[in-house]
Formats: sequence, structure tokens, C-alpha cells
Amino acid sequence: MFTCCVVLCAGLIRKVWIKWNESPVIVSFAETSTPVWQIPYPAVTVCFETKAMQTRFNFTEYYHLYYNESTLANLTEEEKHLFEDISLVCDDHLSPPGGRKISNGNETVNNIRVTSPNITDVFFGCKWKDAPRDSCTDLFSPILTEEGQCYTFNTLGASEMFRTENLHQEYGYLEHENSADNWTLEDGYPPMTPLETYPHRGSGYGVKTGLTFLLKAKETDLDYLCKGPVQGFKILLHNPAELPRLSQQYFRSPLSQEVVVAVKPKMMTTSEGLRPYDPTRRQCYFPTERYLRYFKVYTQANCEMECLTNFTNVRCGCVQFGMPHGPNMSVCNAGNRDCMKQAQVELVTVEILSGLDPHTSHNDTLGDARAVAAECRCLPACTSIEYEAETSQADYDWKAIYRAYKLPIEDDIDDLFYARVMIFFKEAQFITSRRSELYGQTDFLANCGGLLGLFMGFSILSVAEILYFLTLRLCCILWRRRRSKIREANKTKENE
Ligand SMILES: *[C@@H]1O[C@H](CO)[C@@H](O)[C@H](O)[C@H]1NC(C)=O
Ligand SMILES: *[C@@H]1O[C@H](CO)[C@@H](O)[C@H](O)[C@H]1NC(C)=O
Ligand SMILES: *[C@@H]1O[C@H](CO)[C@@H](O)[C@H](O)[C@H]1NC(C)=O
Ligand SMILES: *[C@@H]1O[C@H](CO)[C@@H](O)[C@H](O)[C@H]1NC(C)=O
Ligand SMILES: *[C@@H]1O[C@H](CO)[C@@H](O)[C@H](O)[C@H]1NC(C)=O
Ligand SMILES: *[C@@H]1O[C@H](CO)[C@@H](O)[C@H](O)[C@H]1NC(C)=O
Ligand SMILES: *[C@@H]1O[C@H](CO)[C@@H](O)[C@H](O)[C@H]1NC(C)=O
Ligand SMILES: *[C@@H]1O[C@H](CO)[C@@H](O)[C@H](O)[C@H]1NC(C)=O
Ligand SMILES: *[C@@H]1O[C@H](CO)[C@@H](O)[C@H](O)[C@H]1NC(C)=O
Repeated sequence: MFTCCVVLCAGLIRKVWIKWNESPVIVSFAETSTPVWQIPYPAVTVCFETKAMQTRFNFTEYYHLYYNESTLANLTEEEKHLFEDISLVCDDHLSPPGGRKISNGNETVNNIRVTSPNITDVFFGCKWKDAPRDSCTDLFSPILTEEGQCYTFNTLGASEMFRTENLHQEYGYLEHENSADNWTLEDGYPPMTPLETYPHRGSGYGVKTGLTFLLKAKETDLDYLCKGPVQGFKILLHNPAELPRLSQQYFRSPLSQEVVVAVKPKMMTTSEGLRPYDPTRRQCYFPTERYLRYFKVYTQANCEMECLTNFTNVRCGCVQFGMPHGPNMSVCNAGNRDCMKQAQVELVTVEILSGLDPHTSHNDTLGDARAVAAECRCLPACTSIEYEAETSQADYDWKAIYRAYKLPIEDDIDDLFYARVMIFFKEAQFITSRRSELYGQTDFLANCGGLLGLFMGFSILSVAEILYFLTLRLCCILWRRRRSKIREANKTKENE
């Protein structure tokens, strides 16, 4: 009977242990809903699909000159370099494979910036919380992304986003220096933060409480070669502490259309009880646990960006200009475009391949690159915010309203296109998700104790009893026996 009990008990305890070990985390909804003013308004990044304005640099014309042997010889070095630089922000197949492999980052970025539309070319007007602004420059500021020069609202300043001491000094990514007033991703806003702060916080819901902006484009500036037949703008809503990657995710705002965007935040927090666990077991990093070399704030997107930078650098010997990188990495140009594209694909598949068989890498750079990729392990941050956008759109016919007011349409505005975007929170509250302990140490102990008690009548007191009998009691008995022996010996001596 005793053996039976021990075996059964051991088997059940093993099951409990496996459960504790393998599924320590449960994701559930928080008990109370979170009002939107507790989280920042989403950062909005807008990119124009025309990368170089035709009136500043005619990409289409230079394309035909560059790809024709007889006219290529007549182009100056500068013109060739300019074309190669601009081709970096256009579709992949437009980059000449025979172009420079590596270029001076400062020069490349300057060429892209000078030819791209500036903020007054792109924005016609902005409204924040239903109050019109004189100019959009105090809301939007330039940002350099993989897609070239774009404009961003509510993103953290350069000194709070990047570890500037590890970055190169050739050119900057973010120009504005709006500093976050004590907002952190982990702790949110401090309790006494005023309503007007930076990053701007959500306040209320509905169209009137959000951001509205009017974009414009001139027909003569549009370039249909660079990005293909779809013109308009790309927009991404992201966390203010994150560098946007518009080549991966975005929604469109077409020309002559109004887009209405209702935002639903998606937030995930993590209970303190999970802090002692290993990050891979809880599947997230607390901010102090993971150091990124180029970013101050850990988020999954920032980590993936850095990982791709490291990987591309090992694979191609250079990185894309839009990736934050250190002073020892050089900037790729048109000749390395295929390599960069391939590296991006490889990074996704390298984990699967290295899982399949780790010893087949005959290629040195691939082996090194795998080592870099293995180091990444970009888990989500324990506190993360995402914004889900629900869009709807309708025609925006500005000429009809001019005609209705009987206003003349001048020649210089006749070829303008407008696009309007409204972004606002859909609801006043949202429910956060929460990672917490499914099965803590206490639960584990209670379960084991229950089983031991059921099968073996076991308790802490019985452990104490066993210890007592094995140590104190034993000593006591031995000591007493020795004393009684000595006494007897003494008695026999006395008797003698
Ligand atoms: C750019 O070049 C193309 C082809 O040569 C030409 O059709 C177009 O009119 C030019 N655009 C401008 C703004 O000069
Ligand atoms: C190359 O340019 C020359 C001179 O402009 C022109 O005659 C020729 O047709 C062009 N070739 C091609 C393939 O476009
Ligand atoms: C190239 O330049 C030379 C000299 O300026 C000129 O004679 C020739 O016609 C040009 N070729 C083309 C294809 O434009
Ligand atoms: C943008 O470019 C136009 C010329 O196209 C210029 O007049 C304007 O001052 C520039 N705006 C800024 C903010 O640089
Ligand atoms: C970058 O280039 C601009 C002009 O092309 C120059 O004024 C600036 O000093 C350069 N910056 C660096 C860090 O080389
Ligand atoms: C941020 O917090 C520090 C310390 O609590 C305080 O001294 C500082 O004034 C705060 N800054 C802002 C902009 O609220
Ligand atoms: C960067 O290059 C310099 C000199 O070329 C070298 O001393 C330094 O260790 C390098 N830094 C890194 C992080 O590789
Ligand atoms: C190693 O990879 C590089 C870059 O993809 C490629 O050019 C080279 O041919 C590869 N070498 C071997 C032996 O596969
Ligand atoms: C990228 O490389 C740097 C320097 O080698 C390293 O410190 C950093 O942790 C790497 N980043 C990632 C995400 O692996």
C-alpha cells in the first residue's frame, strides 16, 4: 500500500511540475477599462509616394538617360550619383546594379532630402483638437525613414529615441527635439501630468478631438516611374517611442479622397509577479532586461530594426541609409540593393533554416550572419501599445465647392490634388490585456502539498517530527544512555 501511494503521488507531482514549468503565463483582460487619456495619442507618420518632385529632379527623364548607353556617357558623375541616390527610395528594380556599392551617407541623404517635397509642399493645413493651426510645422516634423524623407507627429525627439552616443554623426534621423515630459512606455504619464504635454495624450473620442490634416500634391510633380502607378500618401500609426518602418506596414491616403481613421488602442501590460521569471518563459522583456545599441526604448519593432541592421551589415558590408547604425558601418548604394533585399528575406528564413540543420553553412558571411540573427531574439516588450486603424473614405472634390461658391479656379491651383485625413480615438475607454501568472510558486506548493497530504498524510509538522526523531531525539537518547552507563559505572565503583 505504501509503495502504491509513493508511486502514484510521484506521478501526479510530476504532472503538476510539468504544468507549472510549461505554461506559467496567462493573458487575460484587465478588470477595469483604461481611459484613452492615460495613453499617448498615436504617433502619425506620413510619406509621400513621389520621392523626388519632378520640378526639382526629373527621375523619369534621368532614368531614360541612365539606361541608354549612348546618353549615359554624357551624364556627369554628379548626375549619375544623384540618380543612384534617388533610386534607393524607389522600387527595387529601378536601382542600377552597376551603380556604386557604398556611398557617403551624408551626400546620399542630402540628395534625397533636397529633391523630396518639403513640409510646405506637402501640407496645406492642420487641425489639432478642432483648433486650426497657422502652419503644420509645429505639429509635424521631418523624419528620415527607409522610405526617404517623411513627416511625423507626436514621435519622441532624437535624444530620447536614440542612444546618440552610439550613432554615427553623418546625418540625423529626427530633426525635432520635443522632449517627453516624463512619459515612459513602462509607467505611462506620471499622475500629476497636465493635459497638454508631450507626447500629446488622447483626450476624449470622436472626430472633434483628433488630428485632421489636409495634404496637397501638384500634378506636374508626380512621378509615375519611381513608385509605380499608385500615387498618394502612406500613413502609419505607431507608438511614439518607435521608429516607423513604412516599407512594412501602412495604410494609404489616395489623392482626391478623404480618409477617416478611427483608432482602437491595443495595450498589453505585465504583472509584477512575472518579473522573476526568465524572459523566454514569460515571452516578453522588461525595459531593464534588454539593451539595444541604437535605441533607448526597447520595443519589438526597434529591436527588429536593429537586428536587420546588424544582419545587413554582416551580409552586405553596409546598411540602408534609413537604419540607425554606428560609425563603423557604411551606407549601401544602388549596387548593393539586391544584397539588402536578399538579406531582408534571409533574416526571416534564417531561423527556420538554422533550426533544420545548423552545420551546412559553407558560406562564411552566412555563418556569421546566422550568429548575428541568433543573438536578436526580439521578444515583445512587457508593456506594449499598438494602434489599430479602421479606415473609410470618400471623394474629396474641392473644385465642386469652388464652383458652388462661384470662386474662380486660378491656373496655378488648377492642377492641385488634395487629400484629407482625420485620425481620432473611436471610444473613450479600452480594455487592456494583461500577462499574469497562471500558476505561481504558491499554487505549485499548494498542489504538491495536497497530493502529499492525500497520499501520505504528509505535512510540515510531520517533517519537523521526522527531523526531531532523527536528530534531537537520537542525540537525547544516546546522551541519556551514556549518562546512565556512567552512573551505573559509578554505582558499581561505589559498591565495590
Ligand atoms: C520629366 O521627363 C519626362 C520624360 O522626359 C517628361 O515627359 C516630363 O514632362 C518631365 N517633367 C517635367 C516636370 O519636366
Ligand atoms: C538612346 O539615345 C539615343 C539618343 O538620344 C536614341 O537615338 C536611341 O534611340 C536611344 N536608345 C534607346 C534604346 O532608347
Ligand atoms: C554627348 O555629348 C557630345 C558632346 O557634348 C554631343 O556631341 C553628343 O551628341 C551627345 N550625345 C548624346 C546622345 O546626347
Ligand atoms: C519649401 O520649398 C519651397 C519652394 O518650393 C520654399 O519656398 C519654401 O520656403 C520651403 N519650405 C521650407 C519649410 O523649407
Ligand atoms: C554633410 O554635407 C553638407 C553639405 O553637403 C555639409 O555642409 C556638412 O558639413 C556635411 N556633414 C558632415 C558631417 O559631413
Ligand atoms: C519630470 O520629473 C522630474 C522629477 O520628478 C521633475 O523634476 C521634472 O520637472 C519633470 N518634468 C516635467 C516636464 O514635468
Ligand atoms: C570602429 O572602428 C575603430 C577604428 O576603425 C575601432 O577602433 C573600433 O573598435 C571600432 N568599433 C567597433 C564597435 O567595432
Ligand atoms: C556566399 O554568399 C555570397 C553573398 O550572397 C555569395 O556572393 C557567394 O557566392 C556565396 N559563396 C558560396 C561559396 O556559396
Ligand atoms: C547589434 O550589434 C551590436 C554590436 O555588435 C550589439 O551590441 C547589439 O546587441 C546587436 N543588436 C541586436 C538586436 O542583436
